[in-house]
Amino acid sequence: MSSENVIWHMHHITKDDRAKQKQQRPCILWFTGLSGSGKSTIASAVEQKLFESGYHTYLLDGDNVRHGLNKDLGFSDEDRVENIRRIGELSKLMVDAGLLVMTAFISPFKSDRRMVRSLVQNHEFIEVYMETALEECERRDPKGLYKKARKGEIKNFTGIDSEYEVPECPEVVLNTVANSIEECADQVIDYLRVNKMIS
Ligand code: ADX
Repeated sequence: MSSENVIWHMHHITKDDRAKQKQQRPCILWFTGLSGSGKSTIASAVEQKLFESGYHTYLLDGDNVRHGLNKDLGFSDEDRVENIRRIGELSKLMVDAGLLVMTAFISPFKSDRRMVRSLVQNHEFIEVYMETALEECERRDPKGLYKKARKGEIKNFTGIDSEYEVPECPEVVLNTVANSIEECADQVIDYLRVNKMIS
């Protein structure tokens, strides 16, 4: 193991200290769902509302992170697992920094989402499932990727020739067909308030 001779250093300022300074309880809002299901849109709307209320936030977005930190990763099952592992560890550091973290990744595999959940305390991982059906995502096709995948121009596309495992007990389920962006964002904010992550 490469960390065998590395000893964890305890620092003076703790997660609780940082969280108290920010007057919030840090957590990860883990948005999961198909491409085009609305993860980035709703996460962004939630962040805007939180920011405007004075909370300290950060949004990690799949498409953006894949241009930097994870630009060496593709869409094989193996690469997706590594993608989520890195984002999980990064989110954990951001929770330690006292932030309200939003992540928008397809994160298609249950085992990976479970792994991230296990990295933080129970109440700190909030799974937000975008319950948008494949047909609707394909109808929206905001990046034209479903069309390409159907033509065989993109391989391993989630929902077409790569699996998406639906969450069993997500903390929040969002329906972006029946509800507006604003209503979906409010549903997430309400969850945070009811669970005393924010006041
Ligand atoms: S994940 O499966 O590893 O969690 P991630 O959320 O980072 O995926 O990236 C998904 C985004 O990459 C999609 O929204 C889409 O824009 C783009 N993309 C490119 N190729 C694929 C593919 N084969 N499957 C899914 N998304 C893809």
